[in-house]
Amino acid sequence: MAGNIFEGVKGDNAIFKDERFLYPEFVPEKLPHRDAEIDSLVFAIKPVTEGKKPQNSLVIGKSGTGKTVAVKYVLKELEEFSDRAKSLYLNCFEFNTRHGILTEISNFLGEATPRRGIATDEAYTKLLIALKRASFTPIIILDEVDQLTNANEASKLFYDLLRIVEHEKQRLGLVFISNDFSFSAKLDSRVKSSLAHQTILFEPYSPQQLKDILRERAQYAFHSKALGKESINVAAAHAAKLGGDARIAIDCLLRAGRLAERENSKHLLPEHLKRVFVEVDSSGLKKYFSGLSDHEKTILSLIPSNSETSTGDLFKQYGKAVEKPLTERSFRSMLSKLESLNLISAPFTDRGERGRTRKISLLVPKEAVLRQLDLGEMNLKP
Ligand SMILES: Nc1ncnc2c1ncn2[C@@H]1O[C@H](COP(=O)(O)OP(=O)(O)O)[C@@H](O)[C@H]1O
Ligand SMILES: [Mg+2]
Repeated sequence: MAGNIFEGVKGDNAIFKDERFLYPEFVPEKLPHRDAEIDSLVFAIKPVTEGKKPQNSLVIGKSGTGKTVAVKYVLKELEEFSDRAKSLYLNCFEFNTRHGILTEISNFLGEATPRRGIATDEAYTKLLIALKRASFTPIIILDEVDQLTNANEASKLFYDLLRIVEHEKQRLGLVFISNDFSFSAKLDSRVKSSLAHQTILFEPYSPQQLKDILRERAQYAFHSKALGKESINVAAAHAAKLGGDARIAIDCLLRAGRLAERENSKHLLPEHLKRVFVEVDSSGLKKYFSGLSDHEKTILSLIPSNSETSTGDLFKQYGKAVEKPLTERSFRSMLSKLESLNLISAPFTDRGERGRTRKISLLVPKEAVLRQLDLGEMNLKP
């Protein structure tokens, strides 16, 4: 009788002690180099534990700077510390309408509200009733809040929340998280003064900081001798080059570890890392591609693969490539968005003849951009 197909595949192995410590959703006990940011969040939310009103926060920073994990960490600690608060995490990739968010919040508060078949105003009313009954202060996290693609819906939602806090005087904590540095400027001043009392900026990690983060995670994920110091350096350097993105650094270790294990290697070596770079580098693109406009996709596809271009040249090319190009101002803000997602690097130079210009290069593999564009076109066909 033939053996079971799973038998040949070894379960316990030389590389990982427990790879789950490297999963993107894992919230570690320690977050190196985020003390100040965490303190600001704690300070904002602390009043809730004394039965007072929390301060609402806006958390801003480029992709992979630890925004999501820091907020989740703080709320996990809060719930352990006090039963006066409970948090609801909503990613606006998934919940991207006013209706969806309102019903999700009232469900969380224990007021069973169907997602479909009820009007949005009714969902709001139900939420308010539930809030008045709640025995705790809800802290609502709206992550990737710039993904509320419909601006009108988003501003209506913000007014609902404003009304709850200002007019109904209900206790509700809010944390908005965004990659978009202009998000705050897009909010109306009344909304901003009530819903975003403070802005907490998350800076990209330096190579040294990335090393510290990797070391911290690696000691739980890997067997002690499996991972050489050199491998941490290589992964950190790669992620630093791609915009100081901790997600890339950690994902490199996870995928390279799996590769080393599959090949029955005793160590995770720099060569394993180098073989997973292309795959890792494309993953950010996969995540964010569907949230890009056609103009942004076109711009991305016009950037050369292994060299840099200037704002002026790219703008000219863009003008030729699309039928109705947007203004230069919009073009610049699209560049900023691509930069905040770590899809391009675009530092300013002072060489420009007309104002400041940027030196633009791709941070994701060109083939991956073209592949995503092809896939998109295939989807358009019936
Ligand atoms: N200071 C840190 N210490 C440990 N892990 C971190 C730290 N900052 C980020 N990470 C990890 O890096 C990855 C990306 O962080 P994340 O919070 O998702 O970034 P963002 O939300 O800013 O895009 C996650 O796996 C997260 O756990
Ligand atoms: Mg995030």
